[in-house]
Amino acid sequence: MNDLAGRHFVLGLSGGIACYKAAELCRALIKEGATVQVVMTEAAEHFITAVTMQALSNRPVYGSQWDSREPNNMPHINLSREADAILIAPCSADFMAKLLHGRADELLSLMCLARPIDKVPLLLAPAMNREMWAHPATQRNMMQLAADGAHILGVGSGFQACGETGDGRMLEPPELLEDIIAFFQPKLLAGKRVLVTAGPTFEAIDPVRGITNRSSGKMGFAIARAAREAGADVTLVAGPVSLPTPRGITRIDVRSAEDMLRATMPQAQSADVFVATAAVADWRPASASDHKIKKDGSGKPPELTFTENPDILATVAQSARAKSAALFCVGFAAESHDLAANAQAKRVRKGVPLLVGNIGPATFGADDNALLLVDDKGMREIPRASKLQLARELVADIAQRL
Ligand code: C5P
Repeated sequence: MNDLAGRHFVLGLSGGIACYKAAELCRALIKEGATVQVVMTEAAEHFITAVTMQALSNRPVYGSQWDSREPNNMPHINLSREADAILIAPCSADFMAKLLHGRADELLSLMCLARPIDKVPLLLAPAMNREMWAHPATQRNMMQLAADGAHILGVGSGFQACGETGDGRMLEPPELLEDIIAFFQPKLLAGKRVLVTAGPTFEAIDPVRGITNRSSGKMGFAIARAAREAGADVTLVAGPVSLPTPRGITRIDVRSAEDMLRATMPQAQSADVFVATAAVADWRPASASDHKIKKDGSGKPPELTFTENPDILATVAQSARAKSAALFCVGFAAESHDLAANAQAKRVRKGVPLLVGNIGPATFGADDNALLLVDDKGMREIPRASKLQLARELVADIAQRL
């Protein structure tokens, strides 16, 4: 992916042990297509050298407002004017306090103060000991910085370099990257609640066996991520998959279709959009055995009988909230042939305004896909692309329909 192609960042490092993570973050930004100008405070240079950051960013690092490399001797103006964002990672407690007061006694804080506030967003990745993070002064500073227009990227929790455990670690570079990419996406679903089902279901035969399918959950997880990037409050009800949870969403793990229905229905009461991407098993064994079914020596396999599972999408689509159009329902159809006809028929049968068709065997487990959007007026194809890209286009399409 090149989600940051064409974007230019000033990556500012203030003093903290998390400076070692800034090297990896710099690399990650560049891999995603961005260009990076590193600026370091004197304190940061105690933790990591400018040589490292210069090699990774492929640009000389700035550290002083008196740097004579700038012909007009104004690096604080020049560097901040060409940036799409200033990202301070790590942002120490002391540096937050400085920003709060608009101090400007070294290059990085001077540059933050001198930035055109409407054009160059300021993103902060705090990093500090848990007591420093929890201190009322720091919490007060963070709230005020947010009120002043800074975007706080949050902190991680866990083991700290000082030996203590708690909140205040800098987020890991992949987490920061996901949040930075999300920051730049248009907020088409701001204030909306989006509910997504994803993955397969697992229908138990006995305690060690069951029936499932090849759905990887990737499309549904990408939709959940894209909806969150678009500013929505997202809940993801996931069948058994081994995918990391996208940042900033609520995930509810379930196993069977009945579990999925139980988890989904209460959430649907307050959602504005429901996207059913899950490949829910159509049938489950009529009764799951409490004990592992053993071979009985007769050479005859056990006879399984099946019961039809509840149709989660159709049930939600019949709810009063969906009927009153307060909840917009989107179904998926994985077909093997005649995609357009099958998708249109399924849309009518499920009673949903929008159905998204795809060719099942071509998408299960893959990182890319192609989608066919079917509504009562006709259809539109979104050509083959990464699932995240498709998810963003689908989210934009849904946002227009609300
Ligand atoms: O009927 P079919 O499984 O092809 O329909 C696919 C759509 O219906 C998907 O959106 C899927 O998530 C949803 N579905 C469901 N509950 C089921 C079966 C399918 O929500 N039991």
